[in-house]
Amino acid sequence: MSLVSEIDYGTPRSGAEKPALLSIDGFAVTVPEGTSIMRAAMEAGIQVPKLCAYDMVEAFGSCRLCLVEIEGRAGTPASCTTPVAAGMVVTTQSERLKRLRRNVMELYISDHPLDCLTCAANGNCELQDMAGAVGLREVRYGDAGANHLGLDKDQSNPYFSFDPSKCIVCSRCVRACEEVQGTFALTIDGRGFASHVAAGMDEPFLASECVSCGACVQACPTATLMEKSVIEIGQPEHSVVTTCAYCGVGCSFKAEMRGTEVVRMVPYKEGKANRGHSCVKGRFAWGYTQHQDRILKPMLREKITDPWREVSWDEAIGRVASEFRRIQAQHGRGAIGGITSSRCTNEETYLVQKLVRAVFGNNNTDTCARVCHSPTGYGLSKTFGTSAGTQDFDSVEAADVIMVIGANPTDAHPVFASRMKKRLRQGAKLIVVDPRRTDLVRSAHIAAAYHLPLRPGTNVALLNALAHVVVSEGLVNVEFVRQRCEADAFADWAQFVLRPENSPEAVAAFTGVPADAIREAARLYASGGNAAIYYGLGVTEHSQGTTAVMAMANLAMATGNIGRRGVGVNPLRGQNNVQGSCDMGSFPHEFTGYRHVSDDATRRLFEQDWGVRLDPEPGLRIPNMLDAALDGSFLGLYVQGEDIVQSDPDSKHVIAGLAAMECVVVQDLFLNETANYAHVFLPGSTFLEKDGTFTNAERRIARVRKVMPPRAGLADWEITLAIAKAMGLAMHYSHPAEIMDEIARLTPTFAGVSYAKLETLGSIQWPCNDKAPEGTPVMHIGGFVRGKGNFLITEYVPTDEKTGPRFPLLLTTGRILSQYNVGAQTRRTDNVVWHEADLLEIHPHDAEQRGVRNGDWVRLESRSGATSLRARITDRVAPGVVYTTFHHPNTQANVVTTDYSDWATNCPEYKVTAVQVVPSNGPTEWQSDYLDHSRRSRRIARPADAPAAE
Ligand code: SF4
Ligand code: SF4
Ligand code: SF4
Ligand code: FES
Repeated sequence: MSLVSEIDYGTPRSGAEKPALLSIDGFAVTVPEGTSIMRAAMEAGIQVPKLCAYDMVEAFGSCRLCLVEIEGRAGTPASCTTPVAAGMVVTTQSERLKRLRRNVMELYISDHPLDCLTCAANGNCELQDMAGAVGLREVRYGDAGANHLGLDKDQSNPYFSFDPSKCIVCSRCVRACEEVQGTFALTIDGRGFASHVAAGMDEPFLASECVSCGACVQACPTATLMEKSVIEIGQPEHSVVTTCAYCGVGCSFKAEMRGTEVVRMVPYKEGKANRGHSCVKGRFAWGYTQHQDRILKPMLREKITDPWREVSWDEAIGRVASEFRRIQAQHGRGAIGGITSSRCTNEETYLVQKLVRAVFGNNNTDTCARVCHSPTGYGLSKTFGTSAGTQDFDSVEAADVIMVIGANPTDAHPVFASRMKKRLRQGAKLIVVDPRRTDLVRSAHIAAAYHLPLRPGTNVALLNALAHVVVSEGLVNVEFVRQRCEADAFADWAQFVLRPENSPEAVAAFTGVPADAIREAARLYASGGNAAIYYGLGVTEHSQGTTAVMAMANLAMATGNIGRRGVGVNPLRGQNNVQGSCDMGSFPHEFTGYRHVSDDATRRLFEQDWGVRLDPEPGLRIPNMLDAALDGSFLGLYVQGEDIVQSDPDSKHVIAGLAAMECVVVQDLFLNETANYAHVFLPGSTFLEKDGTFTNAERRIARVRKVMPPRAGLADWEITLAIAKAMGLAMHYSHPAEIMDEIARLTPTFAGVSYAKLETLGSIQWPCNDKAPEGTPVMHIGGFVRGKGNFLITEYVPTDEKTGPRFPLLLTTGRILSQYNVGAQTRRTDNVVWHEADLLEIHPHDAEQRGVRNGDWVRLESRSGATSLRARITDRVAPGVVYTTFHHPNTQANVVTTDYSDWATNCPEYKVTAVQVVPSNGPTEWQSDYLDHSRRSRRIARPADAPAAE
């Protein structure tokens, strides 16, 4: 195996279509107009020496190494900043050019430490390469004069170091931070000899606004900005392209390795979701894969108060099978079920739901999407006909107006946020609908045209008011609606939104958003050109989550903002494979491809393929499983890669349900919170240890490739196969590719997907079938999947969760950049330097009323429960609203959230909980008891002569 190398063309691709024909070193070259001479040469295979140019950022023209000669023009222009012209005759090599380049390089090297042999970048350094390329053999100037060789390193960032003594001030890092990441954390400070790269206010990187995305490190042509892992381990020897296992952006990475050790993860420029960019999690936070907390042996125990006992795989799998069969014999076929993982691969998820349906003989399968985007699936399928977002990420480059509702992409979907911010800096207008003043509202070179800071729980009212303005002010795209949508449904909807109670003036009082702002935002969305909606869990995790999704779909159809680039309705999905886990039939009522289990023809298809009879009745959802456990009718659960104790609402109820079961099987990397209530623990594998695919928020199916063997011996898919076999159904797959073949055989939207095609195309967006053999980047072009677009009435029904004298504040929850979901992975990396604990954001006014100071412990209490955490006083939240994250189990923020949920899908109402906040002295009694139980539950009994480990 070798390193996957990518060509650096020096400057970005030109967007022009018109070609230009020119001659470079005697070769005829055709490129689009606007292409730099450097890129044209590179595309023709002619290398022009360069240092300050890099194809992820615009050319700067500072190093003067890339000089060329152009027939008929005086001088030696820089090829990186000079665009091609038709008929141009270019020479890249001549004696004059060689001499000039050598002189330039000589100056650089004269102020550079000559420690190449011991430098971590040795063999992978552009400065070293260029010195060779220009034939520099000696440096005439000694190092006696003024130089930068003694400057100190900045080691403050946990993942990369900054050694200014090696800096050539090419500004690639500065431009990467500005143009690719959009953080503007770096500048070139000072002038002439004193000019240097400065982070923030010329402070350590960690203290600056740097978000550790790594774009500058990737851009640096020297060893100035360098991954610490490379310094420690050495240069990588080979690499494998794979997909990030964190969020739903689904960034492609090259896992660069030495043997079976990861040296670094480098974002892959060919990756169509990320186009060569990354965030701190995918780029750097992979250390959890080797963390000492990993459990590498299967374990059993009789009672959840017993210590764990390490056993063989055979014994563990045998116990799972015998217990599940015993429970079914005693309590009926429906007394057991499974939860699939949105972190595992499509193939693994498919196998778990197959195990439940074909082996358990019921449909008791569910997934964490229940608690995040299940309303997306339902809402979009009822309006457009398909349960997924409409666009690819590239589409944002064509948007003129971007409306972000209930999402904080800067923290939760950082790479997409960077791509969106780039478009905003180019001039697209932004509308933010969010109770918090998120980063997008105002950040470097970005300001929202409108921020509508609505009260949590009033999304539907606000969306109806936006629609009211569209209809009442004649902003409907009549032609689109006439051609593409159900006429009667539109007429009913238009009449509905026109009702006075849906006017901006009527909803202003309880949404908290002034009527004028609603009117102006609606006008901008409807008439500002291509308008795209991006939304997150702030839309779905409500009692009216599905209604809000439908309301957004209505709005997009009414304004004709569907079915082309730059528009659409786009969920920003949370976990890496949450789209895939839904597609793969994880829900209790649907087979793969969202086909109902009661549909006879679909069921027969699966029955014939799997050779079993299948239950036509939908099974239990997660909340129903827990309720049934408390009723004594549901007693066995197989949980693959989810931590429902920490992630699901009303933790006390979840814990009571699990504690009532007789056999809980947890398959995970770590003894997570759910494992505290488990009887069997099966050690899982990381994304580095298995083959498979993930599907991101754009419906993009991308390969996950194994770079090391599973540390516990089996990949997750192999564990599920072993359980199925032990329970009587042998499934024969020798590789996940064969599982995908079965999925394609049984799922019309995946019919054209195969590993061979993924190898060729890199990634594929479903639907992929005979009609779209290479997949579908943008959906509903020319017609909706369901035929005509369907407008649905979206009556606003206030949530039952109300504030009052006892609980006067509204709690809403979310994520931060450095942590991921329940934090099981990121808490086991150096990312903890940015977020050691969950904090409660509270407005200064509310804090003052309660005598709370910044950093004080506060008790956060709802009708479900109470937890204590420290306060952060900020006006990012509106008065009356408090906000926290749920990344840390010792906070257990979900002790506070309630059992209210979406009317259609049971998605919990995480985003609205009536709470009170009062000063406290520290953790609540419940938190202390819980931590105590966790400690006891994690004991592992060792052989008699070894000391017991806590
Ligand atoms: S790591 Fe990212 S945010 Fe930080 S300075 Fe580099 S490019 Fe900017
Ligand atoms: S740190 Fe690297 S990329 Fe930045 S100016 Fe110095 S050499 Fe160039
Ligand atoms: S944006 Fe998401 S997918 Fe991309 S690197 Fe970050 S966590 Fe991974
Ligand atoms: S690469 Fe063109 S001036 Fe530096």
